[in-house]
Amino acid sequence: MVPAAGSGSRLRGPRPKQFLRLAGVPLLVRTLRALARVAEIDGLVVASPPSDILGTRRLLRRHRVPRLLAVVAGGAERQESVWLALQAVPLESRVVVVHDAVRPFITRELVQAVLVAARRHGAATCGLPVSETVKRVRAGFVETTLDREGVWLVQTPQAFRRALLWEAHEKAQQDGFSGTDDAVLVERLGHTVRMVQGLSENLKITTRADLSRARAFARRRRPG
Ligand code: CTP
Ligand code: MG
Repeated sequence: MVPAAGSGSRLRGPRPKQFLRLAGVPLLVRTLRALARVAEIDGLVVASPPSDILGTRRLLRRHRVPRLLAVVAGGAERQESVWLALQAVPLESRVVVVHDAVRPFITRELVQAVLVAARRHGAATCGLPVSETVKRVRAGFVETTLDREGVWLVQTPQAFRRALLWEAHEKAQQDGFSGTDDAVLVERLGHTVRMVQGLSENLKITTRADLSRARAFARRRRPG
């Protein structure tokens, strides 16, 4: 499942960043194609900006994105978009992969590693250990230096047993809890989440500088 309903406010592009092209191919299309290359993924569910569901469906049809199951209206926050997309995931799916539309450079091996870990442990994410020194800064001055031992930066894909992800989202809603990824909702249930080594190339396109890096990277790679 791919949350793609954001507005891209930090990038401030002419349209939401998931629709911008990288070497000629829209980001969302690249990401969906990369997921569709994973044999274990039976179908794709996309959360789109509510104002442009038809346009998103048309775009994905035009680019012949394979195994597309549904394009649904997303919500005001990422968490809500994932919840709305989860309703469209077939009941027979045992495990769900959640992956941001704006991380197009995933590999088949990475998705598979996260899937295997989720099958085994119920929930899994990928990420990378922090290699730089981490400090908390307030009003331009260092307040404290954090212990970076065991600190990881988290990426998507993440994967979960469907029923567990469902329960985690329901509980977050009941509690009014809002998180920046799905794993944290599962952590709140007291359930373990397996960490899998991510990829430095698995860039999340957030700012204009990220977009420039992604464009340079896409030109050096085979077409998406
Ligand atoms: N997303 C979503 N629904 C939202 C907000 C975000 O489906 N209401 C998706 C985005 O489309 C993106 C992913 O979640 O694929 C990660 O979000 P982010 O990078 O924050 O994207 P935006 O919210 O679009 O960007 P910004 O925060 O700068 O506005
Ligand atoms: Mg956002």
